[in-house]
Amino acid sequence: MPSIPIKPDRLLGDLQHLRSFGARETGVVRPAYSKADIAARQWLAGRMAEAGLEPVFDPVGNLFGLPAADTPCMLSGSHSDSQPEGGWLDGAYGVIAALEVSRASAEAGGPPVAVVSFQDEEGRFGALTGSRVWSGALPLDEADRLTDLEGRTFAEARAAMAGLCAADFVRPDRFTGFIETHIEQGPVLDEAGESIGVVDVIVGIRSLQIRFTGHQNHAGTTPMAARRDAFQGLVAFADAINRAFAEIVTPATVWTIGHVALQPNASSIVPGQADFTVQWRDGDKDRLDRMEEIVRGTAERVCAERTLHLDLSNHVAVPPTGMDDGLRARLESAAAETAPDNWRVMPSGALHDAANVARLMPAAMLFVPSIGGISHNFSEDTDTDDLIRGAEVLALAIAV
Ligand code: GLV
Ligand code: MN
Ligand code: MN
Repeated sequence: MPSIPIKPDRLLGDLQHLRSFGARETGVVRPAYSKADIAARQWLAGRMAEAGLEPVFDPVGNLFGLPAADTPCMLSGSHSDSQPEGGWLDGAYGVIAALEVSRASAEAGGPPVAVVSFQDEEGRFGALTGSRVWSGALPLDEADRLTDLEGRTFAEARAAMAGLCAADFVRPDRFTGFIETHIEQGPVLDEAGESIGVVDVIVGIRSLQIRFTGHQNHAGTTPMAARRDAFQGLVAFADAINRAFAEIVTPATVWTIGHVALQPNASSIVPGQADFTVQWRDGDKDRLDRMEEIVRGTAERVCAERTLHLDLSNHVAVPPTGMDDGLRARLESAAAETAPDNWRVMPSGALHDAANVARLMPAAMLFVPSIGGISHNFSEDTDTDDLIRGAEVLALAIAV
């Protein structure tokens, strides 16, 4: 195999620099289109230019670093936005690993490698918004009407980057395939003492934003029987879906009500409105469908029983996605060479941009361990040796 010798100090130095944008405790607060996110993207664009890549922001703020020659090449990367409380490596690692492999390849006379940082992977507007738009899974005019949890539209949010963005999207036919490097975000590799995971399938996800509207009233004078309490509706909904899901799920199925906002959220007021998100994930599309019937049917029944008004919005559906056999084989032989007997093939329980990019071109993923399996948490971390090894596997797979 031709080799692309990466420079570990440059990889780790850039990762640490990216960590400084939106730094909080040992993690980052860098949600899509925040000042910290845009500043990080501008810095990344500069690093791409220094590496000989042309930085291009597309209309939604996805940042591509394109090699000079217009001949089709491999694309690698991930995302640099974060959860509202995010770790320093989620997404950032895949972007910087791609950047390092791209410049190392240029230095070694290897193949050109394009780099990408997708926008809003973490779902301020649902999930994987930037790559859903780029891949054609979500029309731009539909995306523009999506709202975040504060009610701001995607159109308003992306206007913050308007001065940086090109009028057109980057043509997907510039790329021959996509490899995303990522931290595992779960405990499997760490517990097994292994250093590389090659992904076979990314599980599917569905999610909905739900609003129950009742009637805000005095908590002392309103008889229980007369109440239209939005919070009690939410509690009944959560309990009912737990019981209904139990009939159809497997131990690998997961579901989460992760955001709840009550109005007006005061101890002496019957809550008039409950806004919440519900998401569910599984590797089987039929099960995701059946869970969706339960979510929608339960919300309707609970609202009818309690005279609440129901609104559903921001529906997200990303199907379970198998990774490309050819790229997977390249990653597997690179893993076997770099980490003999210390790697495995595994599914991804987290969602990734590769699931959308797979609509356009062959796509594959590799994982490095997450210490303690912790992610979406300021304390997320990975051993330095594993960060270096992951980039080496990516380099080997790209060098073929
Ligand atoms: C992406 O971060 C996910 O929630 O899986
Ligand atoms: Mn991620
Ligand atoms: Mn994430």
